[in-house]
Amino acid sequence: MTANDWQPMMYQMYREIFRGKPMPFAYVDLDLLDANIQSILKRAQGTPIRVASKSVRCTAILKHIFGASTAFQGVMCYSALEAAHLSQHGFDDLLVAYPCWHEDHVAAACELIRAGKSVTLMVDSVEHIRHLDALAAEHGVMLPICLDIDLSIDFPGLHFGVWRSSIFGVDDALKVYDAAAASSCLRLEGIMGYEAQIAGLGDAGTGLRNRLIRLLKRRSIPQIVERRKAIVEALQARGVKLRFVNGGGTGSVESTIQEKVVTEVTVGSGFYAPGLFDHYQAFKHQPAAGFAIEIVRQPKVGIYTCLGGGYIASGSTDANKQPVPYLPEGAQLMTLEGAGEVQTPIVYQGAEKLALGDPIFLRHSKAGELCERFNSLYLIAQGKIVDQVPTYRGEGMSFL
Ligand SMILES: Cc1ncc(COP(=O)(O)O)c(C=O)c1O
Repeated sequence: MTANDWQPMMYQMYREIFRGKPMPFAYVDLDLLDANIQSILKRAQGTPIRVASKSVRCTAILKHIFGASTAFQGVMCYSALEAAHLSQHGFDDLLVAYPCWHEDHVAAACELIRAGKSVTLMVDSVEHIRHLDALAAEHGVMLPICLDIDLSIDFPGLHFGVWRSSIFGVDDALKVYDAAAASSCLRLEGIMGYEAQIAGLGDAGTGLRNRLIRLLKRRSIPQIVERRKAIVEALQARGVKLRFVNGGGTGSVESTIQEKVVTEVTVGSGFYAPGLFDHYQAFKHQPAAGFAIEIVRQPKVGIYTCLGGGYIASGSTDANKQPVPYLPEGAQLMTLEGAGEVQTPIVYQGAEKLALGDPIFLRHSKAGELCERFNSLYLIAQGKIVDQVPTYRGEGMSFL
């Protein structure tokens, strides 16, 4: 069976499953999520996987993922308050992957440590070290920290990667490490390097842009390997015993796990597999999460206007940050209107008979941001709704 054969049935099946449910709503198809979990495990080839919770943002789904395999070890959190929230739900080994500065947030991390939890905060500068050391001293705890290594690559006229850490090489890393070693309340536990230009940049397709991206990726990888290795070895030469060396993301699993110094790979987006993750040459995950909007008017034959739908993803605001119409197959957004604040016209000329009150299924362009739009997710399996679980937002939690 080809995708063309099953997609009409998917629309009918989903429409039937959710018949009568008020729209808009969001859902996760557990059968597809489980398929993604299995393919992520296969891609990681036994390397422990740290789950990027920003790309999930639903406690029940995080529990489902961790329940599937012991290869899922530790959470990559996006704020100390989120780490505290997850800790209350029983999660541990919480790596807060972005700098934590406000004293209330640092206090939350210190409280977790006092309670015996494993929480690690991210640093990339001497200023971070001084600030955290002073606060950790006030709270009377030894605070585990992780060095964030910049893994972007500068090509002539192009900074290939993101702007995050100020640690570009061995000297920068040692400067921050030496400050940490001289501190009284900080302990270096790990290093993290996120090669965003490999992990977060789609490259499938024969067009010039994608061929160029693949070329730049190929050129970047040896430099990434070299930089990460050099920093790990320099720290080891200082006598540092690292608990973990973290790397990667959904889009870079294949290359990240090849690095001998890497002890764990991060994966988040691959579980829901949102629109932006349809375009990678190395893997294809299943569209496990989506949302439905209701057709409420029909201004013209072939145009179905739905209520809601304008859930635009963060980042540089290209058209690819819009949600992707998913079912029925062939449904499209209109270039001039896109997905709107309260209304979204959908162009559809396929075989499916659509009427007012019918759903159009779309997928968010990014993974976890879907959950910032909905209080709950319907969970479906084997053709029926099996549960409805709160998102972070539904739990009253909005961390960023
Ligand atoms: C530090 C870090 N690691 C890993 C990832 C990869 O996450 P995902 O698998 O959701 O793309 C991200 C995503 O932005 C990140 O910021």
